[in-house]
Amino acid sequence: MSIIEKAVDKLRSNAPSVSNKDQQQKDAAGDSQRLEMGKHDTCHDAQDPTPSLPVTEPAKTQQTEILLEPDALMQPAVSTQPDIEIIALNLDGILTDDARRTRQAEEMRMIKRPILQSAFGKKHKPSEHSNLLMVTSAIAGEGKTFTSLNLALSIAVEMDRTVLVVDADLAKPGLSRLLKIDDRSGLTNYLRDEERDIGRLLLRTDIPKLTVLPAGSRHVHSTELLASNRMQQLFHELAVRYPDRIVIFDSPPLLVTSEASVLANFIGQIVLVVESGKTAQHLVKDALAQLDSTDNVSLILNKCKKGFLSTQMGSYGYGHGYGYGNEESDQQ
Ligand SMILES: Nc1ncnc2c1ncn2[C@@H]1O[C@H](COP(=O)(O)OP(=O)(O)OP(=O)(O)O)[C@@H](O)[C@H]1O
Ligand SMILES: [Mg+2]
Repeated sequence: MSIIEKAVDKLRSNAPSVSNKDQQQKDAAGDSQRLEMGKHDTCHDAQDPTPSLPVTEPAKTQQTEILLEPDALMQPAVSTQPDIEIIALNLDGILTDDARRTRQAEEMRMIKRPILQSAFGKKHKPSEHSNLLMVTSAIAGEGKTFTSLNLALSIAVEMDRTVLVVDADLAKPGLSRLLKIDDRSGLTNYLRDEERDIGRLLLRTDIPKLTVLPAGSRHVHSTELLASNRMQQLFHELAVRYPDRIVIFDSPPLLVTSEASVLANFIGQIVLVVESGKTAQHLVKDALAQLDSTDNVSLILNKCKKGFLSTQMGSYGYGHGYGYGNEESDQQ
């Protein structure tokens, strides 16, 4: 090998150090190219409504994409619109404005106090489901739905309380009809396992802290549905999941169907609405006889025309009365 050939060989053996440098230069060029692409992404993203996100960080770019998914964008719109606009329904005798100092509003305040005391007072036991309240009566038309809704509205203004009203009158869903939600899925659909998540059936109202569970689709075996294990589990879940919540069950009359006495077995407090001047005393006694115990029963004397009545009803606990809010009595 000539001296020249040896020199060429030596130069070749030094070649890697030269190509490393080359590679470094290429790498640097590549990085700046990638940065350029990043900038290009920024321009692309600038067309969407969230241009300020630093797109050179892949994780955040990814986050931008997630935020822009159509479902995520639809979520807030769904949650801001109430399902039931009770105020706009302008229902006769339904007190959506708690600030009003009407006799009826005052009476409702007096009715709710002992109920709240029993539900959340020092003596209450969570295991007794004292925050579950059933509104029933001896016969039809005594004012159960009217009382349930007004009581719910009155409790909803309490500072630390939320209210759920359940239309548990599956055969004659008066509350669902009144609120125009009788075509919505509700309690029966849950009990028939057509909907597993009860939360998806609860309807929000325009009254803060008040939600409603409609009766749902009609079912011929409503007593069996209400007596089912699934209903028992639901009672328990409703009672313990939100301990600051009152759940009001607008229920059927005790002497007309067997459903009300079935429901009463799982409920902490029972309110028996008695229509003043109409329901005979023996019917009230018969209705009370349908219940296993009367320790947790309160009576409300409804539609009494001459002001508030507060009567101690023998061994059946305390009694309350409220009546029609006529023009004269409303002006205070
Ligand atoms: N205190 C009251 N003041 C004025 N109207 C009342 C009062 N209570 C009930 N009503 C009216 O009496 C009628 C019957 O009341 P409601 O529908 O609440 O009775 P109900 O016991 O739920 O009947 P049902 O057994 O058919 O379910 C309704 O028109 C209601 O607006
Ligand atoms: Mg009713």
